[in-house]
Amino acid sequence: MNTKPTWFDTSIESTLLAHESSDDEQGYFVYQLDALKAHLAKLQQQDVIKLWFAVKANPLSKIIQTLDSEGFDFDVASSGELAQVLAQGISPDRILNTGPAKSKKQLNAFIKQGVRTFVVESLNQLTWLNEVIAEQTLVDKPTVLLDKPTVLLRVQLQWPEGEKNPLGGNSLTPFGLSVQEWQSVHVSDYPNLDICGLHIFQWGNMLSNEKMYSLWGQMVSPLINLAADIGMELKILDLGGGLGIDYLNEGRGEAQGGGDTLSWQQIITDLADIKAQAGVDELWLELGRFAVAECGYYVVPVVDRKMNYGQDQLVLAAGINHIIRPAITEQPFPVTLLRQSNAPSQVFDLHGPLCTSMDKLGHLPLQNDVNVGDKLVFGYCGAYGFTESIPFFLCHQLAAEYVFQAGKLIEIRAAQAASTYLA
Ligand SMILES: Cc1ncc(COP(=O)(O)O)c(C=O)c1O
Repeated sequence: MNTKPTWFDTSIESTLLAHESSDDEQGYFVYQLDALKAHLAKLQQQDVIKLWFAVKANPLSKIIQTLDSEGFDFDVASSGELAQVLAQGISPDRILNTGPAKSKKQLNAFIKQGVRTFVVESLNQLTWLNEVIAEQTLVDKPTVLLDKPTVLLRVQLQWPEGEKNPLGGNSLTPFGLSVQEWQSVHVSDYPNLDICGLHIFQWGNMLSNEKMYSLWGQMVSPLINLAADIGMELKILDLGGGLGIDYLNEGRGEAQGGGDTLSWQQIITDLADIKAQAGVDELWLELGRFAVAECGYYVVPVVDRKMNYGQDQLVLAAGINHIIRPAITEQPFPVTLLRQSNAPSQVFDLHGPLCTSMDKLGHLPLQNDVNVGDKLVFGYCGAYGFTESIPFFLCHQLAAEYVFQAGKLIEIRAAQAASTYLA
């Protein structure tokens, strides 16, 4: 029996089968916009959380436009992301800037373009932003101070050796600063800024509501204490992203007792509680994968099949040059064969064309009649796909990007041969 996995929407199958790729198209992404819109609308049916979209997950114009149409605002982490969001006609007052690499020059450029919400990740960033406002006020309108930007300080927590560490490890990152470092500031020292919030995000791909709630709960008191220490009236708490996607199908689902995949309803209940505990007016999340992963597929042809030391291998037309996430997280995207087959399944090693053993998209089951010329579809590729890859190595073609809307496949970005980017 040909069973398709639950993540694959079979209503798109005939369109993908009928699609004829050009010679340059060695793999493509397709995003189901109607399904995305319906999913986002569900996320917005609540009044507990203000939702931002972490643009790094998928900066395609059509994706940004769909999030805009469902009332999401936008978290950008670079000038490129800012330009892309502004190019979709989004007002800069709906943009938040996060990221550890904000130079004074970048902060200046963001303020000039009208961005007024910042997650600040270092003492330098705080000083620079305060200076930028004073300097631009002098240049533009010496008598009127520019609107004070809303500033959240990004906190990185660690637990003392030997204590139960809810984050599972104390690896040091450049994202934010310790409570101790932030304690050296007082908000009144930055008169040009409205420092009124804290940001914390140190977890990834969480699949359990229970774990998530317990983790968030343990952040509340250190954050409240920090706010009091530095003279901040804590109005906004931003808990970043990290809501998980069950790439490996580990969730047991309701029928089997549930519990291993996230329930959005439970998140709302839990965050209402966290919001009350923290006593904040606003609770923010910047969603990446939880917003867009499910709407996207990546389609790629099989160019070779061989047996090697007893292992069946498939070599695909593209691998980590189009979609690197599996190699850097050791977490494959699930895969299915793009055609009907009643053959039994077996496990294959799925390799791309690059000259590195890293170029592997997984060790995954497929029907055992899969062969050269077949196409494979990978799921949950709406997030961390096209722009997270390493497209230039070995001079292969860039992937194409399509949207599927009202039953039609529409090309947004054509595949490109290496001659278009080689100098
Ligand atoms: C500051 C910030 N917020 C939100 C996100 C989105 O994370 P996720 O895709 O896990 O929701 C990221 C991802 O790196 C991030 O850096």
